[in-house]
Amino acid sequence: MKYRVDVHIDGDVRTVIADNGANLLDILKGMGISLYTPCGGRGTCGKCVVRAEGGMAEPSENERRLLGERLKKGFRLACSYRIGSDACIYIDRPGEQAVIMTAGTRRQVALDPLVRKRYIELPLPSLEDQRPDMERVLALSGLPAMNAGTSITNLPGIETELELLKGLPALLRSSGYRVTTVETGGKLLSVEAGDTTALLCGTAFDIGTTTVAAYLHDLNSGKLLSVASMMNPQRKFGSDVISRIDHAKTSRQAAYELKSLITDCVNELAGQLADDAGINKKDIYAAVFSGNTTMLHLLAGLDASGIAVSPFIPATCRTIRLGAKELGIDINNSGQAILLPCVSAYIGADTVSAVLASGIYEKDGFSLLVDIGTNGEIVLGGKDGLIACSAAAGPAFEGANIRFGMGGIAGAVDSFAMHGFRYTVIGNMAARGICGSGIVDAAAALLDAGVIDETGTVADDGETAGLPQEIRERFTVTDGMRSFILVPAEETDIGEPITITQKDIREIQNAKAAIAAGIETLMSEAGISYHDIKKVYLAGGFGSSIHVRSAARIGLLPQQLTDRVEAVGNASGSGASECLLSKEMLRIAEEIAGKVRYIELSASAVFSEKYIENMIFTQNQGEVLQMEKRVFPVAERIVNG
Ligand code: FES
Repeated sequence: MKYRVDVHIDGDVRTVIADNGANLLDILKGMGISLYTPCGGRGTCGKCVVRAEGGMAEPSENERRLLGERLKKGFRLACSYRIGSDACIYIDRPGEQAVIMTAGTRRQVALDPLVRKRYIELPLPSLEDQRPDMERVLALSGLPAMNAGTSITNLPGIETELELLKGLPALLRSSGYRVTTVETGGKLLSVEAGDTTALLCGTAFDIGTTTVAAYLHDLNSGKLLSVASMMNPQRKFGSDVISRIDHAKTSRQAAYELKSLITDCVNELAGQLADDAGINKKDIYAAVFSGNTTMLHLLAGLDASGIAVSPFIPATCRTIRLGAKELGIDINNSGQAILLPCVSAYIGADTVSAVLASGIYEKDGFSLLVDIGTNGEIVLGGKDGLIACSAAAGPAFEGANIRFGMGGIAGAVDSFAMHGFRYTVIGNMAARGICGSGIVDAAAALLDAGVIDETGTVADDGETAGLPQEIRERFTVTDGMRSFILVPAEETDIGEPITITQKDIREIQNAKAAIAAGIETLMSEAGISYHDIKKVYLAGGFGSSIHVRSAARIGLLPQQLTDRVEAVGNASGSGASECLLSKEMLRIAEEIAGKVRYIELSASAVFSEKYIENMIFTQNQGEVLQMEKRVFPVAERIVNG
């Protein structure tokens, strides 16, 4: 049996004929329509909401639990909805304008890029000078005579691109023996006609699980020419690395699909960078990639399945150098790609890059680096040694598993203060949900006001008597749970109030306890107290957008360290840029990866103990929460995903 499904989206109606029992999310994917699916379609996050009209199949248990009253208005979860009749599906996409952190601290590094060019004018061949074309080039190229592609095996002969040798005779003769050589690490990559030395660019990419940031540099001057960013298109298979690995494991085709999605994304960004800077993609000779271990495995098409299961073994953590063409990256045909080194399955090149860009590897004493996401990567130490762990915080700070949670995209409440119930919304529009920084502010404000107590329990009717009237009026019930209204229905774009529920508070407690316990476990390992930590570097988009006061109030960051916090923005991207511009920085990144000692938290009794201790909130400080400035008020780009 087949049914007609009309999909109303972006003011348009698209019709598809579907089999009886077909899954709606699969149908939409097949139509090229992607929804926000943090749980990867497992029916647990409640975010793939659509409105359905037609012969409705009975709601699943997940839909009843996650949609509550909204079921009566026709809302359904696409991943749980199976076609059982003709249907009309309404998709209200907010547009995926996202705030993506691309800015970061930029250190001055001595320019010594991975790829170099040299203009040479060759002596013309004659009966007295019968050197072959390649020898003629190598003699003036500054490269060792045997190095038209140094072979790591030290076997005789040259290792080079056949295309280079094939084209060389005609190129030399047509250019009048005036050519430009392109080399990397002593290896001749290509020879170009005339003087092209002015055209030499490179790109650095930070491949995050949620977002991808890209930077274009002039390799002659080191100057940053353009910046671009996109949502990671793989997120339709789930918001966390485990969901992506699980999908990749299902078939070779699925693994290829994940690889293609990120390769296409990188190529699109490279095109944007080139257009913005007014150059040709063929002028890009190097691409350096930072990212977590899973993202780099998926980019390289490596089997990442060992990362997802104990004992958590990646295929490799080494720096990978290969031709960009081999990786499917569309830059100059001779371009080089470098995937930066990782430490372990859950301390990736993004953390290595952040350690590099923050400079903590060369500082005296102890510094702390924290990057909060679904996993919180934490590094402690300095020039005498570095230890690191990855705390499984869960996706609460990314908006998943939170009743009205959403990513940092247009329509998300990104700050909240109880005083005057003030809030701000990304994109200055009516609110549609709340993102991580708003969630942290809201939890801190509820604690300060006594709406929740130290155990995270929302006050019941008998306990609210002492609260001001305007706060008492904001208590409500959402999906049968005690909750608090952050934004009244009349100010939202979703026809209902945005609330924070008792379950949301529990999710926040779990997430903040994991990060705090991770920090304390590393301190215990190093045998130090808060007093010994000189500086706290917050890396990543979330760490750079939270209010430090709120984060400390809920115990996400230690209150003792708030006077030492510095946000470093997208330090992963900054580190990748440094490695692109300087071979010495690439060498130091390698050294950092080898030097960091990884502490596995799942095997740590200290972590378990600290985790339980940190589940409660700390004492009320009695302060009035103010709308503070963000710690890193940098220009952020709003892009379409
Ligand atoms: S509930 Fe459908 S994608 Fe998560």
